Formats: sequence, structure tokens, C-alpha cells
Amino acid sequence: MPNIVVVGAGVSGLTSAYLLSKESANTITVVAKHMPGDYDIEYASPWAGANVLPMATKPSSRWERQTWPELKRLAEEVPETGIHKMKSRVYRREKDLQKLRGGEYAFDGLFKEDPWYKTLFEDFRELSKDELPRGVASGAEFTSVCINTMLYLPWLAFSSTSPRPPHGVTRGGSKKAKVDLVINTTGLMASRLGGVADQDVVPVRGQVVVVRNEAPYMVTKSGTDDAEGDVFYIMTRAAGGGTILGGTYQKGQWESQADPNTALRIMKRAVEMVPELADGKGVQGLDVVRHGVGLRPYRNGGVRLEKEKIGGTWVVHNYGHAGWGYQGSYGCAERVVELVDEALNQPKL
Ligand SMILES: Cc1cc2nc3c(=O)[nH]c(=O)nc-3n(C[C@H](O)[C@H](O)[C@H](O)COP(=O)(O)OP(=O)(O)OC[C@H]3O[C@@H](n4cnc5c(N)ncnc54)[C@H](O)[C@@H]3O)c2cc1C
Ligand SMILES: *[C@@H]1O[C@H](CO)[C@@H](O)[C@H](O)[C@H]1NC(C)=O
Repeated sequence: MPNIVVVGAGVSGLTSAYLLSKESANTITVVAKHMPGDYDIEYASPWAGANVLPMATKPSSRWERQTWPELKRLAEEVPETGIHKMKSRVYRREKDLQKLRGGEYAFDGLFKEDPWYKTLFEDFRELSKDELPRGVASGAEFTSVCINTMLYLPWLAFSSTSPRPPHGVTRGGSKKAKVDLVINTTGLMASRLGGVADQDVVPVRGQVVVVRNEAPYMVTKSGTDDAEGDVFYIMTRAAGGGTILGGTYQKGQWESQADPNTALRIMKRAVEMVPELADGKGVQGLDVVRHGVGLRPYRNGGVRLEKEKIGGTWVVHNYGHAGWGYQGSYGCAERVVELVDEALNQPKL
């Protein structure tokens, strides 16, 4: 049986290991510096909300399209994953729509009018004018999911290594057995690793506030009038995971500490848009669990999902998922399985 080593235990590595352990006759070992349970600036996955709000443009929507059915199934059938369904609202402001029509805009697909994903969600509907808050030109509503990453990452690690005993998860990088193939899911650290560091990988800093208050629905808005790099979203995690108030989208920034002014802006925007969140008591009514900062592993040119032979060993790369690592996780991991089968020239089970 070929030995496959997955380097990285974020959502990209663990989902790759999960599908590989089910779909091919290999021994899978996950090795990583950071494991589920850790909180570190070099480890993006625990910091994510995470929810499903498609961001791709139509031509590159494959990963998100393929992922949604599986996340929906987990929400419906496997509650121990910490994934639950929740209504989601997407608000578009007129000035952002104008920027969108003009070209460059960070969340192209998400805030487009008449988006490709309207057929992905069964109950997608445009909001009527009287359902929109002040300052919002148009919006949509659909049922999406929110993932409690504190529960989902350990579940993935456990599920990718059981019930078949040859699979394993270990911390660190020591590899004793012969390695036939490496899966490279090192996220942002692909920009810093020795050898051929990938200069196209850059952080997009995301600061959040986690509160105990519960939101009635998830909501995001196409822009804010606050600082450059400020964005707006709210989502409530399943199983007591708290509510994530976001956030920022700051390209090229590595700062690991939360900025108190940014945090205050995040909380103000949240209670202005959804006063019920704090029983109408404003920022004072928010009960903070923690402030957090995560770095999204952005890659110029998009995700790197391809195979490469390095020093006689096949490597399948799967890194650079920016802000969509969860919502594209199954689509990308399915591609990893295909690339592994091609590289090792083995038929699917
Ligand atoms: C604030 C915030 C909000 C987000 N919200 C969402 C959301 O709502 N929906 C969504 O889909 N996505 C969201 N994301 C994006 C998502 O978190 C990332 O795309 C995803 O976590 C990337 O996962 P990854 O496995 O590729 O990388 P990571 O989670 O960073 O994992 C990298 C792994 O590689 C290991 N590693 C790296 N280098 C080495 C080495 N040399 N040796 C050993 N191990 C190594 C690390 O230890 C770690 O285990 C958000 C991100 C942030 C920061
Ligand atoms: C992952 O890719 C990066 C960028 O090409 C490279 O520096 C690193 O060595 C690769 N890691 C593995 C384990 O192949």
C-alpha cells in the first residue's frame, strides 16, 4: 500500500486526508506543526467563522459548487460535526455595486446581482425593498451553514484516521516510513518554507470579535464606511460556539494581535445592523468571549491545485484558499484524490 503523507492539519489537509482515507487504498499520515485545538497565527483554520458565502466568479465556481452538497449533508445528518443550517442575508450597497460593475473588487462573486449561486441554494430569493435596511440598495436571502471550527476540525481529524488503523495523525515533520506521495496543504506557510517558497502567497488579515450573544440570522454587507480593509459579517456557530463578528480583509498584513480600535468598529457596526444581537443595548450589550486574528492564505493567481515531481517524489499541492477554504474544501479535496490516482496510477476503489 502506498504511503501518503499529508503535510498540514488545517481544513485543506484534513479534508484531503478524509477523502483519501475513504477513496483509495493508501496509508495516510497527517503531519503538521499545528493541530486542531491550537490557536496560532500560522494556522488559519480555527479562526474562520466559518460559513458558506460563495465568492468565486462563475468560471471558477467548481470548488464551491462541489462542496456545498456535502456541507449541507453534514449539517442535516451529522450534528457532531458542529455544522448547522442558518438563514443568511447578503446586502449590496449602491457604491459597491458600481465598483463591482467597474471590475476589481475583493468578493466579486458574492455581491454580484443575479449571482451564479442563486441556483445552488434551494431557497435563494431576492429581498424586497421593504426588507432592506437603510443604505442598502438590494440584497438576497438563502439558507446556508455555519461551521463551528472548534468541533469540526477535531471531527475531521478523527474521521480521516478511523476506523482504518493504518491511518494516523502526528505532530511535527518526522517521517520514518518510505513516503510515496506528499500532499502539500501548508497554507500561508508555503510562502515561507525553505526550498522554493511561493512568493505569490500573501496573508489577508482577518480580525474578529467572538461574543456570547446570538444572532437571528447570518448577514454580510458589500462594504463599510469605516477604515480601508474593514468588512462586515455576522454568524452564529452551532453548539455554543458563540457569534463571530467580522471583520477585516487586510492584504499583506501579518500583525497577529487584535487592534482595539478595529474591534470597537466591528462591534459598533454589528449592533447598528442587528440591534437584536445586544437586546438593543448597543456595544454595552455585547458579551465578549475573545478577540481573534487569523491570516487568510491568499494566492495571486488563485489556489494551487496540481501535482509536481520533486526529487523523485510526487507532491500534490493544495494551498492558497484565501477566504474560502471551508466552502471549497470538498471540491478541492476531490481534485486531490484525482491527482493522487493519476500520480500513483491506481484505479479508484
Ligand atoms: C477571520 C477569517 C474568517 C474566515 N472565514 C471563512 C469562512 O467563513 N468560510 C470559509 O470557507 N473560509 C473562511 N476563512 C478562510 C479559511 O479559514 C482558510 O481558507 C482555511 O482555513 C485555509 O486552510 P488550510 O488548511 O489551507 O491552511 P491552515 O489552516 O493555515 O493550515 C496549515 C497547516 O499546515 C501546517 N504547516 C505549515 N507549514 C508547515 C511545515 N513546514 N511543517 C509542518 N506543518 C506545517 C500548519 O501547522 C497547519 O496545520 C476565514 C479565514 C479567516 C482568517
Ligand atoms: C509546498 O509548497 C511550497 C511552495 O512551492 C514549498 O516551498 C514547500 O516545500 C512545499 N511543501 C512540501 C511539503 O512539499
